[in-house]
Amino acid sequence: MRKIDIHPEAVERIKKYTIHDQQLGFGKYVAPLMIEAVYDQGQWQRFDLVPYGPIQLDPCTKVLHYGQEIFEGMKAFRQPDGTISLFRPEQNARRFNQSARRMSMPEIPVDQFLQACDVICSYCKNIVPKRLGESLYLRPFMIASEVGLGIKPSKQFIFIIVASPSGAYFSGDSVKVYIERDDIRAAQGGIGFAKTGGNYGASLQSYTKTIQAGCDQTMWLDSTHTYIEEMSGMNFMCLIDGELHTPALTDTILDGITRKSILELARHEKIKVKEDKISIDDLLKKIEEGRCTEAFVCGTASVICPISSFLDKDGRTHYLKDGQGKVSMELREKLISIQAGRSPGPEGWLHPVPVIEF
Ligand SMILES: Cc1ncc(COP(=O)(O)O)c(C=O)c1O
Repeated sequence: MRKIDIHPEAVERIKKYTIHDQQLGFGKYVAPLMIEAVYDQGQWQRFDLVPYGPIQLDPCTKVLHYGQEIFEGMKAFRQPDGTISLFRPEQNARRFNQSARRMSMPEIPVDQFLQACDVICSYCKNIVPKRLGESLYLRPFMIASEVGLGIKPSKQFIFIIVASPSGAYFSGDSVKVYIERDDIRAAQGGIGFAKTGGNYGASLQSYTKTIQAGCDQTMWLDSTHTYIEEMSGMNFMCLIDGELHTPALTDTILDGITRKSILELARHEKIKVKEDKISIDDLLKKIEEGRCTEAFVCGTASVICPISSFLDKDGRTHYLKDGQGKVSMELREKLISIQAGRSPGPEGWLHPVPVIEF
C-alpha cells in the first residue's frame, strides 16, 4: 500500500478553517484540502493530501470527451464520544472498483481506498458537524487524464477525494415522484449499475420535466417501460400488504448501500422483505386499492425519504395512504441512530477513523 504524503500547506489550511453557518446544506461547503492520487505506467504512483484547488486539464483530456469517469458518495458521522466513524466505507470501495471495471479504469485496492478516506476524515475532524443527521460527506472520484482524442481507454488517471460538511438532508417533507414513461436511464448490458457521470448527465432532461411538473424525484422504469428501477440518485422501496418490496438488483440498477442496509435492518425486525420485479401499473393499482400503504426513496444523501404521491403521464396523481409511513419512519430513525453511534448496529457497519494529532 502507498503511504499518503501530507503536504504541510494542507494542514495549515484546515487548521485555520471554520464554518459558522448553521444551515450547512449539501455541497455548500468544501474542506480546504483533498486527497489526490495519480495512476500512470500501470500503477498508482502516489497518494497525497494537498490543499483543495482547481485541477488543470489539457482541452484534449479524454474524460472531457468520452466521459471515462466514476465516483462515490459516502458519509462520516460524529460519534457520542467525539470520535468519527465512516458508515460501511468498504462497500463504497468495492462498488468503486465495480464501476472502475465497467469503465475500463484501474481499481484501487480496498485498503488503499479506506486509508485515503481515513486520512481526509482525520484531518477534517474539527469540521465534522455534531447534530443528529449531519455528516462529513466524502466524494471520491476518478477521471481519465490522458491527453488525446482517440476513442480508447486512457492509460493515465487522477483519483481525488473531496470532503463536504453537510446538513441533515431530510426536511421532514415527503417527496412527490414523477413517473418517467418516455426516457430510460439504463438498458441491459449498459452502465446503469456503475456510478459514472453519464448516467447522471442523461437523467437531467427528466429532472427538468420533474421539477416543471411540480415533483421532486424522477422514477425510472426499465427499458420496456414496465418495471420500476430506481430514482436518479436513490433506490425505491414500498410496503405492500405489510411486506417490504424493492426492485431486485440487475445490471441496470445501482446497488445502493442504504438499500442493502435497510433490507438487513428490516429482516432483523422480522419484516418480510421481497426483492422482485415491481410493475408500475401494478403498484398504482395497489395504491388505489389501499394495499400499498407506504413508499420511500433511500440513499446516502437522504437516508430514507417518504413518498407522498406519484404523478403519471396521463396527469393523474396517485396519493399514498400514509404520506409519512410508520414503517418507513421507524427504519429511518433506526438507521440514523446506528450511524450516529447512538444505538448498536450490525458488526462492522461503523468504521472508526484513526485520530491524528496535528
Ligand atoms: C442512481 C443511484 N441509485 C441509488 C443510490 C443510493 O445508493 P447509496 O445508498 O449507496 O447512496 C445512488 C446514490 O449513490 C444513486 O446515485
